[in-house]
Amino acid sequence: MEQNSHILLQAKNLSHSFDYPLFSNVDLSIHKKESIAILGVSGSGKSTLLHILATLLKPQTGKVLFHNKDIYSLKDKQLLEIRRNHIGIIFQSHYLFKGFSVVENLKISSLISKQKIDKSLIEKLKITQTLKQNVAELSGGQQQRVSIARVMIKKPKLIFADEPTGNLDKETASDVMDVLLEYTKANNGGLFIVTHDEKIASRCDTIYRLKDKRLIPVIL
Ligand SMILES: Nc1ncnc2c1ncn2[C@@H]1O[C@H](COP(=O)(O)OP(=O)(O)O)[C@@H](O)[C@H]1O
Ligand SMILES: [Mg+2]
Repeated sequence: MEQNSHILLQAKNLSHSFDYPLFSNVDLSIHKKESIAILGVSGSGKSTLLHILATLLKPQTGKVLFHNKDIYSLKDKQLLEIRRNHIGIIFQSHYLFKGFSVVENLKISSLISKQKIDKSLIEKLKITQTLKQNVAELSGGQQQRVSIARVMIKKPKLIFADEPTGNLDKETASDVMDVLLEYTKANNGGLFIVTHDEKIASRCDTIYRLKDKRLIPVIL
């Protein structure tokens, strides 16, 4: 029971198929301060698994427990409350508000979550110079860092990130990982990232490869 108090999110017996079965009978726990990386070839179901854990997609079988409640058996309003207050999702396609500046994008997040914009976060993500620019003018890597800042401003307990360093050069990717990992440890949070990059994955506490419909623990 003691062990359970360290678990932030627990997935039990997850199975999901689209045109073909992606995974079956997957169990996974995200503990406080834990960072988890998922590797796997394209099409193996990594993003689908992330969406299921992150409150966005009900699995065909299995449960996702948050505070010992199966989130997909909750009323929509309660599920939304969890998503809004506790979950941060960094998508591959950033969904920034095009036509707005970087600082406007960050302010929208700050207003919705009622959290202040932390200047040191902006500095660490190296977007200070771009604040007044329209996000549509930014490079893919800059947009990616703005999208990470926007999610982190919410101060979510759990962060789910789909290829968060996919558009970044090695040094910036490493800096972004520093920010995400430090945040996770400092806030007793949990981090779940999908990545192709074994070097990035190796910085996480727990690493799995999604292969043959299973999550296989990996040591890098
Ligand atoms: N909403 C959906 N409807 C139908 N097929 C989907 C949907 N989402 C993903 N898929 C399919 O499921 C498979 C796994 O997709 P995905 O989880 O995105 O894999 P990965 O992130 O590992 O590349 C792919 O073949 C993809 O086309
Ligand atoms: Mg994907």
